[in-house]
Amino acid sequence: MKVLTVGGGAREHAIVSSLVKSGAKVYSSMSNKNPGIVGLAEEHLLCSDTDIPKVSQWAEEKGVEMAVIGPEAPLGKGIVDELESRGIICASPFKKAAQLEISKEFMRELMKRYELPGRVDFEVFDDMVAIEDFLSHYEGELVVKPVGLTGGKGVKVMGEHLLSKRDVIDYCRKVLKNEIGGESKVILEEKLEGEEFTLQVFTDGINVIPTPLVQDHKRLYEGDEGPNTGGMGSYSMEDGLLPFVDEDAYEQALAIIKATLLAMEKEGRKYKGVLYGQFMLTAKGPKIIEFNCRWGDPEAMNILPLLKSDYLSLCEGMAKGDISEIEAEFEKKCSVCKYIVPEGYGFESVPGNKLSVDEKGIEEAGARLFYASVDEKDGDIYTTTSRSLAVVGFAETMEDAESSSERALSCIQGKGIHMRHDIGKPASIQRKLDNMKNIRGE
Ligand code: AMP
Ligand code: GLY
Repeated sequence: MKVLTVGGGAREHAIVSSLVKSGAKVYSSMSNKNPGIVGLAEEHLLCSDTDIPKVSQWAEEKGVEMAVIGPEAPLGKGIVDELESRGIICASPFKKAAQLEISKEFMRELMKRYELPGRVDFEVFDDMVAIEDFLSHYEGELVVKPVGLTGGKGVKVMGEHLLSKRDVIDYCRKVLKNEIGGESKVILEEKLEGEEFTLQVFTDGINVIPTPLVQDHKRLYEGDEGPNTGGMGSYSMEDGLLPFVDEDAYEQALAIIKATLLAMEKEGRKYKGVLYGQFMLTAKGPKIIEFNCRWGDPEAMNILPLLKSDYLSLCEGMAKGDISEIEAEFEKKCSVCKYIVPEGYGFESVPGNKLSVDEKGIEEAGARLFYASVDEKDGDIYTTTSRSLAVVGFAETMEDAESSSERALSCIQGKGIHMRHDIGKPASIQRKLDNMKNIRGE
């Protein structure tokens, strides 16, 4: 089967690898020349992810039958609606279902309207007078979020990025004035205390196949400090849970996802594709931080290589709207993913540095390599302003998976790069366990 993929990051490299492994002939559209994807695809198109007419026309010309969309931006702009109108089925949601990620206002209002479990208190504002009035009565800490997409970088948390109500007001003013996230609107949300985890599912809108839990690390620096990023690395465990998430919390998170999918169907916005739930495990159970209408990046790189079942059949089931007869099996292994990013990433990236990558060494380390936003020129690989590449170690134990990812990192040389070494290390995991105990008052 000929399959279109859109996106040129490490997540899309993982998607393309799994599609090719299950026999697909892949046609990839991407804005940067990702050498990992180019090496696997039948053909590629260098094009903006959101140039929907160009991507769709190319896919049609190539006789593509199905599409898998990596990033959220083209989904928010209706790429699935356009491709399906041309007879290309998609294992990704239509524009009106993608609102679950595209508009944080839509998501929070939906959860409130249907009284869904896992919801949080919030208010949406579009003027400063109302914000100042609200804050003068509000006790406790808040999180400030632009309503639209900011690539995970627009959210600011009181007590971390915003140290006073004055800082909150200043940031709200900036969001409204500069229309950060594409709209002059801001959400003020109750600040949740706990540990975050990701649950990704395959769904046709009704039936749900869960995948192993993952913990991403959004902060730029070791010890979970510094600004939010797209994600610096992540780990998953052999039993599909996490050290601080037990079976009960996992079931609650899955129930929140299922209830949200039912609400979406009732709204006439039936969802299909991979649905990503970002949860905060609090003293009162899991709460939703956000939904994403796609695989997570880096979380896709932890999970897709562990999938033993045929990924192409799963995608076809989702695209056709029925996965009731499909099962998915995963290898019972731990995984540790670590990203290399350009120096300055999170503030102002310094791009254009050459990286040397010993692919064979990475394989020998028992790890996988996924290229992200690098550009290939004359056989050499250069950093751009986004995350550069990810390595993922897989093993029976966390210790072995983590050391495999470190051996893989040592196979990459270059100037002007940054990475977090703490991800998946015992001390880092212990800190998360201690944090959870603390929050539960144990
Ligand atoms: P988002 O872009 O919504 O995923 O938010 C980015 C990061 O901000 C999350 O991964 C959390 O670390 C933090 N965050 C977002 N919403 C909240 C909240 N309501 N309470 C505490 N932290 C939050
Ligand atoms: N890992 C966060 C995201 O994909 O949005």
